[in-house]
Amino acid sequence: MEVIIVKDYEEASQKACEIMLNVVKNNPTANLGLATGSTPIRLYELMREDHKKNGTSYKDIKSFNLDEYFGLDQSHPQSYHYFMCHNLFNELDIDMNNVHVPKGNGNIDEECKAYNQLLEDNPIDIQLLGIGSNGHIGFNEPGTPFDSVTHKVDLKQSTIEDNARLFFNGKIEDVPTQAVSMGIANIMKAKKVLLIASGEGKAKAIQATVEGPKTTDVPASALQDHPDCILVVDEAAASLLKNK
Ligand code: F6R
Repeated sequence: MEVIIVKDYEEASQKACEIMLNVVKNNPTANLGLATGSTPIRLYELMREDHKKNGTSYKDIKSFNLDEYFGLDQSHPQSYHYFMCHNLFNELDIDMNNVHVPKGNGNIDEECKAYNQLLEDNPIDIQLLGIGSNGHIGFNEPGTPFDSVTHKVDLKQSTIEDNARLFFNGKIEDVPTQAVSMGIANIMKAKKVLLIASGEGKAKAIQATVEGPKTTDVPASALQDHPDCILVVDEAAASLLKNK
């Protein structure tokens, strides 16, 4: 695990953008594993700006998102599909046929099976991750086995509260209690992993991920075994690390 400590959210987003663009420029047919949530919003803005200014092309790029809320249609403004379109895809030249976000409705077992097959057929070149304050990656909550693949999950109360704070206009009762998520084994298969963490709310999770034991209690600690994993962490999120 390589840990890069930067000053703040802006610097973390700039650094992450540099790493993402490097992959896209070196491999115009790269498969990108993408995340939602508040953390990558500025990174996505920087990618849109770069596309506009420098013409970096996504026309042969494929994308695969980590997760989706269960029960929300793609057109729901809080769905992750909607989030991705509005924060990134709508302003890139990506072919929407190459965009993949797990479906949160329909026959979920079939959807999960199909998504796993899709990931088998399209190995991810770089997987972007945020991290939950409880150490989750994707929606793999504490206790999820490291050999898990795309599956339906029950969200922990802390995740529902975190997500209500930032989205759903603060209305906890509107946050779905379940989601569909790539599993930890899917994430570990990516050739490169890039995790961004910002703010002191992530400090405990980052300390446990980097310096704690590898344990399913902290899903992100599985990344200790990944051969090419970069953590871009701002000073607040790095504040509890003992070895800086
Ligand atoms: C989102 C995802 C989640 C978030 C995590 C952090 O696709 O998979 O693991 O990355 O919950 O969320 P934020 O960035 O809102 O703090």
